[in-house]
Amino acid sequence: MSLKDKLIPEKLPRHVAVIMDGNGRWAKKKGNQRIFGHRNGVKAVRETVEAAAEMKIDYLTLYAFSTENWNRPKIEVNALMSLLVSSIHNEISTLNKNNIRLLAVGDLEKLPSKVRKELNWAIEQTSVNNGLSLVLALSYSGRWEIINAVNQILNDVKNGKIDIGEIDYSVFNSYLVTAKIPDPELLIRTSGEYRISNFLLWQIAYTELYFTEVLWPDFRKEEFYKALYDFQNRERRFGKISEQL
Ligand code: IPE
Ligand code: IPE
Ligand code: MG
Repeated sequence: MSLKDKLIPEKLPRHVAVIMDGNGRWAKKKGNQRIFGHRNGVKAVRETVEAAAEMKIDYLTLYAFSTENWNRPKIEVNALMSLLVSSIHNEISTLNKNNIRLLAVGDLEKLPSKVRKELNWAIEQTSVNNGLSLVLALSYSGRWEIINAVNQILNDVKNGKIDIGEIDYSVFNSYLVTAKIPDPELLIRTSGEYRISNFLLWQIAYTELYFTEVLWPDFRKEEFYKALYDFQNRERRFGKISEQL
């Protein structure tokens, strides 16, 4: 029996975020170049997106490229950018078939124009879909996002659009690139690394964290169900005590 049958629809998260990690190690274990791992990670992306859509999850955010990943060898960065272009290009029809809307968050201006063009086109082509929202975090980091928000707030204070005293949680939140996206209830990281690596720092304040040893290219639907099942059996207290829930 698949774990899928044990999942309770009312107890599923609305938003799942994933740090897709371990492509390089997966390739190395097979005696191959790192990029071979990235290429094989595409199947895992497809499976995860499909599983999330089937489970009627509203948002799936995938950490595909971090601010810090720009510091990798140029040859790997270029290969990742090319892979992005071809993957987005190849998946548009499937996204539309499955009523999936594509979104992107991050310092997108830093992306090569070829990537931006393909990305914008895919976002536009899928914009009317109202099933799963698939959010790609590209050239993204939590600290970049927070600094970006602070700078925009300062600008709006200077221009008289908002007053200093007005800045509360929800005003601050509205300046984030994820403003329209609810916070994730569940964050999955693969490859046995127990860190956040500058992902959604603000948004994960109360997110449930799930770590698995599975390397990203080996991640399949059943692994996703495992994470959902684990999530379902947790007690989220938000500072209260059990008896108050
Ligand atoms: C994740 O896999 C993909 C990206 C960060 C783009 P890695 O490339 O980090 O693989 P490992 O962690 O080196 O195995
Ligand atoms: C995090 O993975 C970024 C992405 C998955 C896109 P990394 O492999 O870059 O993380 P660190 O540097 O090992 O923490
Ligand atoms: Mg890694």
